Amino acid sequence: MNNLPQFLEELKREMLISPKSVWDIARDFQTEMLEGLAGRPSSLKMLPSQLNNPNGQEMGTFLALDFGGTNVRVLLVELAGDGVFQIRKNSSFLLKNEKQSYDYTSGSTKAEELFDFIASKIAELIESRQTYYLGHTFSFPFRLEGINQGFLINWTKEFKTAGVEGENVSRLLQEALKRQKLNNVIPIAILNDTVGTQLAGAYGDNNCRLASILGTGHNSCYLEDKIIINLESGNFSRLPRTKYDRQLDELSESPGSQLLEKMVSGRYLGELIRLIILQLIEEGLLFGKSYGLFKKSNSLTGAEVSLILVDRTANLSTIKNLLEENFSLLGSSYLERAALQEISNLLMVRSACLAAATYLGVLEHIDSKLEKRHTIAIDGSLFEKMPGYAQTLEKTLQRALGENAEKISLLLTKDGSGIGAAIAAAVNVQKNR
Ligand code: GLC
Repeated sequence: MNNLPQFLEELKREMLISPKSVWDIARDFQTEMLEGLAGRPSSLKMLPSQLNNPNGQEMGTFLALDFGGTNVRVLLVELAGDGVFQIRKNSSFLLKNEKQSYDYTSGSTKAEELFDFIASKIAELIESRQTYYLGHTFSFPFRLEGINQGFLINWTKEFKTAGVEGENVSRLLQEALKRQKLNNVIPIAILNDTVGTQLAGAYGDNNCRLASILGTGHNSCYLEDKIIINLESGNFSRLPRTKYDRQLDELSESPGSQLLEKMVSGRYLGELIRLIILQLIEEGLLFGKSYGLFKKSNSLTGAEVSLILVDRTANLSTIKNLLEENFSLLGSSYLERAALQEISNLLMVRSACLAAATYLGVLEHIDSKLEKRHTIAIDGSLFEKMPGYAQTLEKTLQRALGENAEKISLLLTKDGSGIGAAIAAAVNVQKNR
């Protein structure tokens, strides 16, 4: 390619998901769901949660542990019924902090160290004289035994902590709580964050049968015959991939897996854009062949992609500052900054189209004629904060469904995984009575 506009034209073609391919992907997704449900080989794990939609009358105060990324939260949630809840207390902490030089997600950390750290943070939030039932949101693929024993199948999102894969995560947490002498904390539920979001969405809305996370990671769940099923859709693999997707996959901790997540989620979107920028610099089409800090892997974050997309200044000065301050690249031209914005936009739109295609696949499976109304509960930074993301998702569904699209509502379900953990705890306390 010998000029920037030509490169961008070609990239646009590669990244475009046409209305026809949206439906092709949706149908392939539906086929994989059926294969997974039948226990045949499938990229979708279809993990049953043993939880149904709540009836809305779950009440009481519960402790929630939301463990799904490097930012872990502990919440005390009061459920008041009919979709009403309040977060009474709330703390968050990082599992990885370069400044304080610790990293509980790395392969050299042992399971016990990770869970001791988490238990010590739970200790900081609670009173010693009170008893708490705890719902544990664990946002990774796990297999459930009984109502509260979750076995991690494999780490995702670049986690590597040793001694957790294949293990009973509920036991690891329970033993760490014991070592902290937290006998007043009783774990009673373990659930995926998508399942938490589903419970939180359905707590106040009967039409909610599909929930999704569009944040650091990407995954969805849905209600099948009174049981919420975690699709682990981030691992879906029948996808039109580009050479940048393959490159990113090869450089990742888990080549060959989580292919959809690697095209959609915030953990990878910036990295994909960075790989495209590297290619442009290499070809001499951007920044006069200087790389600045773009050579460093994962140096472009999802939050920075949002900043690039939101820049409406005449001179694209937000992008200019970002390049100067975060990437040590001085003297970029307007056209170069516009190219960066266009690339970010192409990747954002592709992500939203792919997510929409998978929702269509689920809707085809649960209500192909769209006889009912459906609320899709969604949480995560892409959906909540990335400029243009929610609109693109909605537009893609509208284009695919025509008039029927008015039966579908997208519901931002903030803190869904924490609220959902409290609802799951409430449900399981009832089951145990
Ligand atoms: C990853 C995990 C999945 C989780 C999602 C969103 O895809 O495998 O379990 O739901 O991230 O956090």
